[in-house]
Amino acid sequence: MIMHQDRNVKRLIVFMLSMTLPVISAADNSISSLRQQELKNLLIQDCGSCHGLLMKGGLGPALLPENLRGKPAWYITKTILEGRPGTAMPAWGPLLSEKEAEWITTLLLEKP
Ligand code: HEC
Repeated sequence: MIMHQDRNVKRLIVFMLSMTLPVISAADNSISSLRQQELKNLLIQDCGSCHGLLMKGGLGPALLPENLRGKPAWYITKTILEGRPGTAMPAWGPLLSEKEAEWITTLLLEKP
């Protein structure tokens, strides 16, 4: 009886470890595909409300690659995280990690 329970405990531990593996690998290589989808939705719905659904501008300037050309990635990431004080551009730092803001920056710079 004790042996039996012991084996179940071991199985449970192995099972729990296997559950954490995808999370660990997602954390050290990049942003999970679920989170990428969330960030894309954020870009369209939240950023899009000011920058236009197609990033062609509105209340905020257009954010197409040609508009951002020449602006360094760190500067764009900083703008996303810290906003532009004195303008309508809010700081997204409370909602996004630095890595996520960098990912959005790459998306903006690379969008066809
Ligand atoms: C409430 C309106 C608003 C929202 C929402 C908003 N922005 Fe902005 N954003 C602005 C405005 C206005 C500016 C121009 C600020 C200035 O005059 O320097 C700006 C500027 C920027 C710039 C700098 C562009 C450049 O050419 O230097 C980037 C990058 C940017 N926003 C990205 C984003 C992203 C990414 C999001 C969503 C996570 C977002 N913004 C959401 C209003 C907004």
